[in-house]
Amino acid sequence: MAPTTTNASIRDFANAVALGLSDTPRWLPARFLYDAKGSELFEQICDLPEYYLTRTEAAILSRSAATIREITGPVTMIELGSGSAVKTDHLLAAYAEAGRPVRYVPVDVSASILRVAADRIEETFPSVNVAGVHGEYEQAFPLLAEFAPTMLLFLGSTIGNMDHSESVAFWRRVCAAMPLGSFVLLGVDLMKDVDLLEAAYNDAAGVTARFTKNLFVRMNRELGAALDIDRIEHVARWNAEWRRIEIGARFETAQDLHVAPLGRTFRIEAGERIMTEISRKFTIDELEAYLACFGLELIRTLTDDRRWFALMLFRKGDGECW
Ligand code: AVJ
Repeated sequence: MAPTTTNASIRDFANAVALGLSDTPRWLPARFLYDAKGSELFEQICDLPEYYLTRTEAAILSRSAATIREITGPVTMIELGSGSAVKTDHLLAAYAEAGRPVRYVPVDVSASILRVAADRIEETFPSVNVAGVHGEYEQAFPLLAEFAPTMLLFLGSTIGNMDHSESVAFWRRVCAAMPLGSFVLLGVDLMKDVDLLEAAYNDAAGVTARFTKNLFVRMNRELGAALDIDRIEHVARWNAEWRRIEIGARFETAQDLHVAPLGRTFRIEAGERIMTEISRKFTIDELEAYLACFGLELIRTLTDDRRWFALMLFRKGDGECW
């Protein structure tokens, strides 16, 4: 787990940036938001009064962890995009309480936050064995069979960051990699009043704006982008047709964005927007029908009183993978 960015990952970043900036409209892949600073800012987002997602999901987890443990029995938990993994404590506590040693495999692109989480968990739960994986989701897929029976944790509505084609590609791979009888615990943000949704991504303290801008700060540092960050503003708004919050940066003035490792320069025009993330919002019914196409049978849905957020527990059946 090297805390520094290697040449290979800088090249990967440069290529991904060039691809998104060559498209119309321009976009950047959301996974690059999570360098050490970005992961830290995201942790701050989770505590914002407007950002109801994390605390709502944590409350459901705390209330339902024992029930989930009863349904699945002992499993290795593999968590995608684990971050600080604070919410996961509720599950780890419930599984550890059942008396057997528990294996937990957090997967995250930020080495620094992964290490902090692993240290904290090993200290808090002596019977939990943590085997962190520093990398992208792909690295977790082979582990689903290797550590079977497993439960794949995909919490925080991170699935909302994927567009339709990314989502299909993702669930196909899960379906292909997951052995019969293994579980998926999916945390999803549900459709609600648009004002509440937009407020969650336009917080009064401006933390989300710093989170978005940090991606451009990272591009300055790692790609020599040479951008004036003060001339870039954070924008987050609801797209009703696609049922998603679209988050990005609006350039107040025209700027040249350099991707030094590739020797390329992109001219961004005044008023132009670069999309950095989407955050799709879901209904329980749509996800049940959708994931059935990937062999995942809905076992239980756990939600809060306001029905703002849901945890959906699926089991891999013998259905075909679409
Ligand atoms: C981690 C992808 C679930 O979409 O709500 C929060 C990311 N970005 N505020 C979300 C995010 C800005 C978050 N996810």
